[in-house]
Amino acid sequence: MEIRFDTQVPSQAETDCIIAGVLEEQGLSTSAEQLNQATQGKLEELFKNGDLPLKPGKTLMLHNLPGIKSRRLLLVGCGKVDKLNVTAYRKIITAAIKSLDSTPCQSALCCLAELDVQGAGLYRRVRLLSETIHDAVYRFEQLKSDDEAEPHNLNTVAVAIPADQQTGMDSALQEGNAIGLGAALARDLGNLPGNICTPTYLAEQAASIAAGCKNMTATALEQKDMEKLGMGALLSVTRGSRQPPKLIIMEYKGGKKDQAPYVLVGKGITFDSGGISLKPGPAMDEMKFDMCGAASVIGTLRAIGELQPPINVVALVPSCENMPDGDANKPGDIVTSMSGQTIEVLNTDAEGRLILCDALTYSEKYQPAGVIDVATLTGACVIALGKHPAGLMGNDDDLINDIKSAAEQSADRVWQLPIWEEYQEQLKSNFADMANIGGREAGAITAGCFLSRFTKKLKWAHLDIAGIAWDSGQNKGATGRPVPLLTQYLLDRCR
Ligand code: BES
Ligand code: MN
Ligand code: ZN
Repeated sequence: MEIRFDTQVPSQAETDCIIAGVLEEQGLSTSAEQLNQATQGKLEELFKNGDLPLKPGKTLMLHNLPGIKSRRLLLVGCGKVDKLNVTAYRKIITAAIKSLDSTPCQSALCCLAELDVQGAGLYRRVRLLSETIHDAVYRFEQLKSDDEAEPHNLNTVAVAIPADQQTGMDSALQEGNAIGLGAALARDLGNLPGNICTPTYLAEQAASIAAGCKNMTATALEQKDMEKLGMGALLSVTRGSRQPPKLIIMEYKGGKKDQAPYVLVGKGITFDSGGISLKPGPAMDEMKFDMCGAASVIGTLRAIGELQPPINVVALVPSCENMPDGDANKPGDIVTSMSGQTIEVLNTDAEGRLILCDALTYSEKYQPAGVIDVATLTGACVIALGKHPAGLMGNDDDLINDIKSAAEQSADRVWQLPIWEEYQEQLKSNFADMANIGGREAGAITAGCFLSRFTKKLKWAHLDIAGIAWDSGQNKGATGRPVPLLTQYLLDRCR
């Protein structure tokens, strides 16, 4: 998908379709008004007759209007101006682009950058536009035969921006494109099934991304390296699997040599069966998405590699499968983590924290400016927060606040949960330094508390993305979140 600028007046644009907004109460947007005049009042007439699609995301396709060069005009409802925030804006863009899906349109002129969006100036609107367009046209069809795949015709979207407002917009488009690219990669990796997207496959993908990006390298620690480092927690999870584990390391060096890097750690369980504490059958296929933390971290590095900001970033992806087997972790087993702390594995399905804790300890060697781990860690987080925000926890207020602000900026939301000392009691084990589960209460929080025991030397934050990383049901598939948030966070570090 190519996204670029255009300064043409809508009625004069030569394109397959013009996309313009209409608003509840006000009616026509600036572009719609221009088109109205070119058509001698046709749109005004529709407004008066109540025929405009005013509710957010509603659309109406008009054909062959007089006075307009383009054969089609897609009107898209933007709702009430005082409700038009970034989240609503994204929905509107998505609805407009998706409604072109089943049309022959190859090109479109999108006049939605002019809308008044709460808290979003032109720069952010243009960025959100390009990011969201990429998101809306995404399809996962690499494993379908050609005749099963839907035709997609749209290949160029021009974003209408008045000529006198173009300064700086190049980088807005560039950022949007990079984030779009990174999120699409994260979605691809997430959507690939466990038999294809193995730890080895993830490591290969990381290597090929690094090979294509300036200032980036990728390697992976193998099982024998993990053994030398004493990563007993990670190793205990992979024991039940026939796939070799990997700890993937991607390094981006855009900053000064001695500048402390930001480290992103992504949970890369390529399939989570639960292990001996086997999960129930229904929807177990969705546990192929248990590497979406890894995917988002790799996708973010893809975006960063594209944008080449002057910072240093490291991605760490502990990756393995969680499978039942004669040699798998058993409830009650006690393992020794790289930190030296011992863990009683009371439930083999709480495996994410076991691989993350060793990766977090490993991250100390970078003396990072900050560490953010990203993980589909707990079903409890989905129960607590649903599918809109990621759960945010951590031990450093500045880091937490920076993440909150990046989330706001990127419309990729988070909500903080407390990891107060009082919750730590729930992790008490009679036989080891801690248990890997904290009981029924506050499951997302006790998972965060568990990780906090391995991050005492770090400025650390944890994103539980179990609710946001993929959609279930009819639209089952990875979302690419939180690539927008993580990229924004990193870009903010250079400003
Ligand atoms: N990958 C799951 C978390 C998960 C479950 C995410 C369902 C999204 C939907 C994780 O490894 C897990 O199984 N967590 C357990 C922890 C429990 C045993 C303390 C859970 O949430 O049930
Ligand atoms: Mn699990
Ligand atoms: Zn898991």
